[in-house]
Amino acid sequence: MIGIFDSGLGGLTVTKEVLRLLPEYQILYLGDTARTPYGNRSQDLIYQFTQQAVDYLFKQGCQLIIVACNTSSAEALRRLQQEWLPNHYPDRRILGVIRPVVEEAVKISRSGQIGVIGTRGTVNAGAYEREIKVLLPKATVISFACPLLVPIVEEGWSKRPETKKILRYYLRPLKNRKIDTLILGCTHYPILYRSIKQICGRRIKVINSAEIVALKLKDYLARHLEIERQLEKNNQHRFLVTDSTEVFKKNAQQWLGQEIKLEKIVLE
Ligand code: DGL
Repeated sequence: MIGIFDSGLGGLTVTKEVLRLLPEYQILYLGDTARTPYGNRSQDLIYQFTQQAVDYLFKQGCQLIIVACNTSSAEALRRLQQEWLPNHYPDRRILGVIRPVVEEAVKISRSGQIGVIGTRGTVNAGAYEREIKVLLPKATVISFACPLLVPIVEEGWSKRPETKKILRYYLRPLKNRKIDTLILGCTHYPILYRSIKQICGRRIKVINSAEIVALKLKDYLARHLEIERQLEKNNQHRFLVTDSTEVFKKNAQQWLGQEIKLEKIVLE
């Protein structure tokens, strides 16, 4: 099984693309809805929550986990991959969302002026900037935290005129610095893709991270047949959450674009 983890339900944007591109693989989604959002929390707590979640998914039989949450990928992934995984599940894999998106960004940026928007946790961790500089040392990375965007998307306000105003405010400093590529470094932002693209104009290439992560996963599986062969192929997908409400259910179905059943579990 492929596990997909997110701090909440935003990771369904990634799941939707994975199901579209790789429909044959069984997916086990886990959203930590009881403790979402992670975006403004401390690194220690984000690490602890993320570790509990991946441990749970491995115990359910996942061979490979995608940490779809940018905040977890930025604040916890490297330590999990380097210190925790080798001692607990040495033959399994955890992949994040930052590296694949950065690879795409440095490939398409002409000027090396790359913008990143995300939660405070993601921006403060500086993980996008670090990865971009590894692949393109001459790059200038302009990162901006947009803490209002997650609640806006969750309230279903994506298409409101007020949201366009807020987006214009957030994107102005990036446009002023003449970025030519913008990374949407948060699970929720693909839902605002059209508005962001419209505000950015034709000169800025906006990277839809959900799409790129799915594409890179396909490529990863083609290159790692030892993992690919172990993955169950069926459509018995399950969607686990740590808290379930009507609003969560409505958002989940809207973001995934299909009816789903949310199953409640306890993470500890
Ligand atoms: N999933 C988070 C991310 O991609 C956004 C929501 C949160 O703050 O937990 O950064």
